[in-house]
Amino acid sequence: MAGGAGTRLWPVSRDTLPKQFIALLDGGESTFQATVRRVSGEGFDRPVVITNQDFRFICAEQLAQVGVDADIVLEPERKDSAPAVAVGAVIASARREDALCLALAADHLIGDAEAFRADCQTIGELAAKGHIMTLGIRPTEPSTEYGYIRPGAERLGENAFRLDRFVEKPDRATAEGYVAEGYVWNSGNFAFAARVMLDELTRFAPAVVEAARASVAGAVRDLDFIRLDPASFAASPKISIDYAVMEKTSRAGVLAAAFEWSDIGSWGSLHAVKPRDEAGNVVEGDAAVLDTRNSLVRSEGLLTAVVGLEDVVVVTTQDAVLVADRTKAGAVKDLVARMKAEK
Ligand code: GDD
Ligand code: MG
Repeated sequence: MAGGAGTRLWPVSRDTLPKQFIALLDGGESTFQATVRRVSGEGFDRPVVITNQDFRFICAEQLAQVGVDADIVLEPERKDSAPAVAVGAVIASARREDALCLALAADHLIGDAEAFRADCQTIGELAAKGHIMTLGIRPTEPSTEYGYIRPGAERLGENAFRLDRFVEKPDRATAEGYVAEGYVWNSGNFAFAARVMLDELTRFAPAVVEAARASVAGAVRDLDFIRLDPASFAASPKISIDYAVMEKTSRAGVLAAAFEWSDIGSWGSLHAVKPRDEAGNVVEGDAAVLDTRNSLVRSEGLLTAVVGLEDVVVVTTQDAVLVADRTKAGAVKDLVARMKAEK
């Protein structure tokens, strides 16, 4: 699933180049590239990348850079993740009736690829038994940006439980309660049998499946791309898989993830996962710092210097500058929304 927006990493993440395609990782890789590389090779079928038509060339170019062959399916408009999951399940079940799917987010940093693949194997086996599996992450704060999961008492395997309750993006006070009660975060990576997901979508969001089936049936090949039928896709509701299925299904299970994870939701979280110098700084691109601590300074072409500051984020591109308190940098999302509205 590589069609989201990700405005909290503004000004680097833009409508034309959302965060999953930005070279954020060491070695200049994007999280999208790391995601497809993690699941290519033995044990995995050819990946299906589902993205917005606007990102078709960046997507193809980034796949070529890492040498991964994939089907690239193009959505004519943004409808959030449930339609993407539905389209993926429809395509997978056409490949083989008993297909098992991994629906992966393209915007995550995952520490240990081997541990991730082992977990995929485990949730794949549970998916074959009819469960819709997700990977659970131990929370580090009462974030309001994640889905929260209460693991049930029923064990599905070692470290795997039937899911008791799923709540997408609760408010702060509720999230605080959940953290105290031992809920885990939903990592947003799922495993399921295509047929089971289509059954659950048919039950809880029939219009999504209908639109997915029709838009795949009416799809056309264009160069290396598969263009979903625009009129059929337009009929789909705009909803995420978390609201559409995960909050409602009784077939969900959760495996405690065995790898380090971050969804790099903000500049602050990027700072937290990047290697830092002795003063706690992450300095990238054409940037220099003096007498500065625990800060992230990143520049793309514009020479950027920071002196005597602490806990700041300074990100510059050719046409925009962001200066923010590192601990409040997630609010950039609200500012971007305001700037768009005022434009
Ligand atoms: N193809 C396609 N089309 N993909 C999309 C679309 C769309 O319209 N919208 C989002 N995606 C992709 C994103 O690119 C990302 O890879 C994935 O679907 C998840 O979407 P996000 O928009 O990033 O969701 P989120 O981060 O707010 O929330 C999800 O992830 C959290 C963990 O990072 C939820 O699953 C939460 O429950 C979860 O905790
Ligand atoms: Mg995300």
